[in-house]
Amino acid sequence: MYDKYQKHKDEDLRSKNLKTIGTMSTGIAHDLNNILTPILSFTTMAMIDPGLNDNVRYCINQIIKATNHAKELTSQIMSFSRGSAGIRKPLQLGAEVNENVKLLKAYLPDNIKIETSIDFSAGQTLANSCQILQLVMNLGSNACHAIGKETGIIKISLKKTAFIETDTDSFSKAKEFIQLSFKDTGCGIDDKTKMSMFESFYTTKTNGNGLGLGLFVVGEIVKNQNGKITVESELDKGSTFNIYFPALQPDAGKESTLQNVKNMGAAGI
Ligand SMILES: Nc1ncnc2c1ncn2[C@@H]1O[C@H](COP(=O)(O)OP(=O)(O)O)[C@@H](O)[C@H]1O
Ligand SMILES: [Mg+2]
Repeated sequence: MYDKYQKHKDEDLRSKNLKTIGTMSTGIAHDLNNILTPILSFTTMAMIDPGLNDNVRYCINQIIKATNHAKELTSQIMSFSRGSAGIRKPLQLGAEVNENVKLLKAYLPDNIKIETSIDFSAGQTLANSCQILQLVMNLGSNACHAIGKETGIIKISLKKTAFIETDTDSFSKAKEFIQLSFKDTGCGIDDKTKMSMFESFYTTKTNGNGLGLGLFVVGEIVKNQNGKITVESELDKGSTFNIYFPALQPDAGKESTLQNVKNMGAAGI
C-alpha cells in the first residue's frame, strides 16, 4: 500500500537524487567551461591575423559562435545548480533590477530600445542576486530574440502590487508583492508554445539557436522565491511576462497604492 510514509520516503529519495545530479552536472559544466575558455581565446586571437583567407575566417567564426553557445549552456547549468541552493537575503529589488538592466543593455543590439519604469521604493524581497540577474538576462534575451531584426521596444517595469487569487497555495498567503514585468513588441507566443515553454529543453528556435533552458531556469528561480509568473501574449502582438515576488515585511501603515491584479494570463506556473 502506498501510504504517507512511503510517499515521504519516495520524495526524500527523489530530492537526494536531484541534489546528486545537481552536484554532478555543476562539476561537468565547470570542467567543460575550463575547456571552452582556451578554445575561445585562441580562436579569437587567430582571427586577428590579417593574412587569413575568407574561408578560414568563416570557419573560425563558426567555431567562435558554437563555443559561445556551449559557454551559454554551461553557465545556465551552473547557475541553475547554484540557484537551487543559492543563499537568499533581503534585496531592494528596484535597485537590483536597475543594475541588471544596465548589463542587459550592453548585450542587446542597437535595433532594440529598453524603456524602464522602476519604483525604487517598491521594497525588499528575499532573493539571491545571481538569480535575479539570470532572470533579467533570460527574459531580456528572449524578448530580444522575439523582436528579431526589426526595431522594437522592451519595457521593464517594477512596482509594488497586490495579487488577488483564489487558490490556496502558500503563495497566496502573502499580501503584498513586487511585480517585475517584461513587455516586448516581439512576435508573440502561440497557445501550443505557452503550454510547454517552461519545460526544460523546450525551444521553438531552429538551427541550434535555442537551448530551451531560459524559461525553465526562470520558472525554477521564481518557484524558489515563492513567487508567481504569468504570461500575456498573442501572436504578432508582443508578450508580457509578469513576475510576482512576495514583498518582505510589508509596511501596513502606508496608504495603499496597490493595484489589484485580476487577470492571471493563460500560462501561469
Ligand atoms: N518574449 C518572448 N516572445 C516570444 N516567444 C518567447 C518569448 N520568451 C520565450 N518564448 C518562447 O519560449 C521558448 C522557450 O524559451 P527559453 O526557455 O528561453 O528557450 P530558448 O530561448 O533557448 O528557446 C522559446 O523558444 C520561444 O518560443
Ligand atoms: Mg531563451
